[in-house]
Amino acid sequence: MEVTQEMSQVTVMPRIGDKAPDFTANTTIGPVRFSDYAKDHWVILFSHPADFTPVCTTELSGFAKNKPEFDALGTKLIGLSIDSIHAHLGWVNNVDKNTGVYFDFPIIADIDMKVSKLYGMLQPNESETAAVRAVFFIDPKMKIRLIMYYPLNVGRNMDEIIRVLKALKTSDEHGVALPLNWTPGEKVIVPPPKTLSEMKARIEDVSLEKVDFYLAKKNLN
Ligand code: BEZ
Repeated sequence: MEVTQEMSQVTVMPRIGDKAPDFTANTTIGPVRFSDYAKDHWVILFSHPADFTPVCTTELSGFAKNKPEFDALGTKLIGLSIDSIHAHLGWVNNVDKNTGVYFDFPIIADIDMKVSKLYGMLQPNESETAAVRAVFFIDPKMKIRLIMYYPLNVGRNMDEIIRVLKALKTSDEHGVALPLNWTPGEKVIVPPPKTLSEMKARIEDVSLEKVDFYLAKKNLN
């Protein structure tokens, strides 16, 4: 097959289910090897387009204000932008001074774009120099479990970030799936039967809230 110029420019981007690529980077807490930082934890790796910009300031403030909740969920945060460490330090200090919100998590200074490119955060048709607003949810086995991408001009939704993190953890813990708009405390979906005998048992099970054998919900106790 002939490889066209367009095809040769396609970036291989990490996908759901892939092992999270490892890297070393300079951050606001010093040099970090990602696999050491992530070890045995859930990690949210997120990028923002630029320091000292308005939407990004609201977003990183959102992560900072919710850090106690991420801590309670055993989840570490690590940010990234294609800015220098000096810009990061100045911005963290400026936001703290002006608003009292301190970005108490490492932010990668990805000035050589190494990590942005590794994670497909640099999406040239949106910007050739700034990372898009990406969010990677990485589990304790370093597997990528969920990815969000937002453009430069739309901020993310912190409630949704926390909701999907809780959904992923609930799914792992209880072997269930989560329906449309699920929030913690609501009924969960039990996996559909895979054999005729499982289907018969499901049809006879009166403990579940059922639409039919393939869509059944239960409460988590
Ligand atoms: C912002 O965070 O406000 C922003 C950053 C880069 C481009 C557009 C908006």
